[in-house]
Amino acid sequence: MSNNLKNSRFLKALRREATDATPVWFMRQAGRYMPEYRELRAKTTMLGAIQDPDIATEITLQPINAFNLDAAILFNDILPPLIGMGLSLDFQGGVGPVIHNPITSVKDVDRLATPPTRETLGYTFKAIEQISAELTPRGIPLIGFVGSPFTLASYAIEGGGSKNYERTKGLMYSEPAAWKRLMTKFEVILSDYLQEQAKAGASALQIFDSWAGALSPSDYLRFVYPYTKNVIQNAKKSGVPVIYFATGTSTMLTQIASMGSDVVGVDWRISLGDAWAQLQPDQAIQGNLDPLLLKAPWRELSFQAERVLQEAAGRPGHVFNLGHGILPGTPVDNVARLADFVHEKTQTGALV
Ligand code: CP3
Repeated sequence: MSNNLKNSRFLKALRREATDATPVWFMRQAGRYMPEYRELRAKTTMLGAIQDPDIATEITLQPINAFNLDAAILFNDILPPLIGMGLSLDFQGGVGPVIHNPITSVKDVDRLATPPTRETLGYTFKAIEQISAELTPRGIPLIGFVGSPFTLASYAIEGGGSKNYERTKGLMYSEPAAWKRLMTKFEVILSDYLQEQAKAGASALQIFDSWAGALSPSDYLRFVYPYTKNVIQNAKKSGVPVIYFATGTSTMLTQIASMGSDVVGVDWRISLGDAWAQLQPDQAIQGNLDPLLLKAPWRELSFQAERVLQEAAGRPGHVFNLGHGILPGTPVDNVARLADFVHEKTQTGALV
C-alpha cells in the first residue's frame, strides 16, 4: 500500500494512531439525497449501475468530489452476491430489494451455489481497481464491503425487507442443521468476496450486519456469531482493517467485540463512551450520530455532533460516522457542513 494511503487520517484512526483531526465518512454517502446521483441513476436501473464499473466509479466519486470526506465507499449493495448463488434479485423503485425465488425449504438451502466470486462479481473488482487508481494519488482510502451472513440470509429467506423476520427465525429454530449449512455457504462466499475486494485495491473492509439487532443475545451467539466471526477472521487475513457494523446491538457489544474486528461501528442507541468501554483495548470505534439529525436545524445538528466528539475525546481511534445510512431527502448543505465541522472541532487542540 502506498505511503500516502497508509498515513491517511482514516487508516491511522483505524490503527488507533493519533491523527491531525478526526476522520469522517458517512454510510450511504452516495445516494438519492445528491442531485448528481439522481441524474445518473435516472439513466439506468440500480443493478445496471452496480454492474457497470464506469457508472459505479462515477457514483462512488460523487460525494468525494462534493465534500471533505476522509474515505470513499464503493457504490454497490450488499445483495448482488445472492445472484451468483442462484437467487433472482431485483431492486424495485419505492419497494426496495426483491428476491423472486426466496429460500422456502431445506431443499432450497442445499440448491444454493457457492461459486468463486471472481466468476460472478467481476464488475465489483473492476470498479474497485478503477476507483483506487483514481483515489490513491489523492490519498483517499476506498472501503469495500459485504452484508453479514445473517443479514443476507434474512433477505434470501424473506424475499425482501422484513419487520419480524418470521420466516428467517422459523428456519433457524426448526431446521438447525440446514441453518448451519446456509450460514456456512454465506461464510464461504463472503470471505472470498472480501479477500478479492482487498486484492483489487480496497483499503478497508466493512461488514454490514444491519438486522442483527432482531436477535436475542443468546440466539446471536448460537446462530450467527461463529460464521460472522469466521468471515471477520478470514477477511483480516487479507491484511486490510475490518470494520464490523450492526444496528440495535448495544446489548451485545462485548460479544461483538470478541469476534476480533479492528473496528466496531455502533448506532446512536448507545453513547460512544459506553460503547467504547465494552470494546477490546486495541479496537477502534466508528459512529454514531442519528442520521435524522442531518435533517434537523444546524444548531441541533452541530450541538449533537459536538456531543459525539466530546464522548470520543481523549483517546485515538474514533472515525466519525452516522449510526446508519444517510436518508433520502437529507439537505446536501448539512452533509458538507458536518464533515467540515468534525475536522474543525478536532484539529489538534481545538476540542476542550
Ligand atoms: O454506503 C454506501 O453508500 C455504499 C453503498 C451501499 C448501498 N447499500 C447503496 C444503495 C451500501 C453499503 C448498501 C448496503 C445495504 N443495502 C444494506 C446494509 C446497510 C443498511 O443500510 O442497513 C442493506 C440492508 C441494503 C439493502 C437495500 N438496498 C435496501 C433495503 C434498499 C432499498 C432502500 C433504499 O434506501 O433505497 C437498497 C437500495 C440501495 N442501496 C440504494 C442505494 C444508494 C438506493 C437505490 C436507488 O437509487 O433507488
